[in-house]
Amino acid sequence: MRRFGREPRWVIRAPGRVNLIGEHTDYNDGFVLPLAIDRAAWIALQPRNDRKIVVHSIDYEETGEFSLDGLAHAKEGWLEYLKGTAWSLADAGYELSGWEGVLAGDVPLGAGLSSSAALEMATARAFAAVGNLPWDAPAMAKLGQRAENKWVGVNCGIMDQLISAAGKADHALLIDCRTLECAPVPLPAGTAVVVLDTATRRGLVDSAYNERRSNCEDSAKFFKVKALRDVSVEQFQKMGDGLDPVARRRAMHVITENDRTEKAAEAMRRGDARTLGELMNQSHESLNRDFEVSSEALNAMVENARRHPACFGARMTGAGFGGCAVALIDAKQADDFVCQTAAGYEKQTGNIPAVYVCTATNGAEVA
Ligand code: GLA
Repeated sequence: MRRFGREPRWVIRAPGRVNLIGEHTDYNDGFVLPLAIDRAAWIALQPRNDRKIVVHSIDYEETGEFSLDGLAHAKEGWLEYLKGTAWSLADAGYELSGWEGVLAGDVPLGAGLSSSAALEMATARAFAAVGNLPWDAPAMAKLGQRAENKWVGVNCGIMDQLISAAGKADHALLIDCRTLECAPVPLPAGTAVVVLDTATRRGLVDSAYNERRSNCEDSAKFFKVKALRDVSVEQFQKMGDGLDPVARRRAMHVITENDRTEKAAEAMRRGDARTLGELMNQSHESLNRDFEVSSEALNAMVENARRHPACFGARMTGAGFGGCAVALIDAKQADDFVCQTAAGYEKQTGNIPAVYVCTATNGAEVA
């Protein structure tokens, strides 16, 4: 904060996330099981006497500013996430006031670890600190999601913002994406969660994502329910043949994934890493074969991870088509797992991956 000539009044931290299981279920009102990770967006800030927001991004080496009066879209860029969040909070009736600060982060961009949700939740947490607003995590997450949907223009579900807002150290959260209820579930003792970044980034993710979403919405209509969350595996087995083959496979993924996610949370509560790992493996097969959002690189990473004896289970995580996989492993063998998996993947694909053990952290907070 030398840039602003004073010590910061607050330092805010809002994490990225990795999802253990429950993929492409959030926008079907279903269940997800993510954890907030030790990679985050940070804002150090102090209040201003006017209604301006002035932020210096250390990563972009650039200062941006806007006024809370007359918020307007600009071209793309990091500042739009802050502006969109301000717009969303103000539109919901929160009294906002000005601040200035510096922003930095270590959530890799575009890797599927929710760097944008981290930025939105850091911004919301900053406004909450300055304006002395209560931190109601689900309400703030919904407003962050609205910023992403309506201001940034990405049609995401609620998972990323909610885990960034509400995460709990050493736990994953079983989130019911219909009620937004969050139940903390402990990571099985002696296990570690490893993020495996394939170093591939795919375009066209948005259009494929939107297509999957509307396909699921059509299937919900076919079953005459509000969302696919309302269809049980048994109902699907009885009626699913009435769907066209592609819609049937997409719906089958979502319906079975909801079931797996609830079972995964139960396994975690029992400390049963084997069952959790097995469910993660099944999730990957379903995403690859039926939902068709995996990629060659993701499949190669998952295969290499599973080859190691420390691995309980591995799967792609996030929207798919590139980005990261996640593995649950025996913590004692973490170093060897990281080396072997990275080397095996690099040999197979020629890509240089980033593989790291991560810890589960709290959600957005004043650090
Ligand atoms: C992206 C979206 C989330 C969720 C996942 C898939 O990360 O932002 O809302 O839909 O994809 O599970």
